[in-house]
Amino acid sequence: MGFKKVAQIQEFEKIEKKLIELDEKKILLTKVDGAYYAISNKCPHMGGSLYKGTFQDGIITCPRHGAKYDAKTGKGVGKPKILFLEFKMEDDRSYPVKVEDGAILIDISAE
Ligand code: FES
Repeated sequence: MGFKKVAQIQEFEKIEKKLIELDEKKILLTKVDGAYYAISNKCPHMGGSLYKGTFQDGIITCPRHGAKYDAKTGKGVGKPKILFLEFKMEDDRSYPVKVEDGAILIDISAE
């Protein structure tokens, strides 16, 4: 399958994150420090939409229970919490991204 075009870099002049649907998967595409990154939009905790969360300094925060993920790697950097209970942190899935001729491409085929 390989890389597929999902966006144009011009779109990221006004936005920092975009929700992509590719082969029935929802992917969160972000721009951090001038580069592009893709992670699964589905929070590994209980499936919250990371796109709907807050995005600051390269960290996306899940709107449901506040888990935090590094948008570059998908690595979990803040545990989900419900009331006073903290839950186990799992990393999110990340995908390879490349830019060609002004287009952003993602490869979701590698497992
Ligand atoms: S679903 Fe994302 S922190 Fe719970």
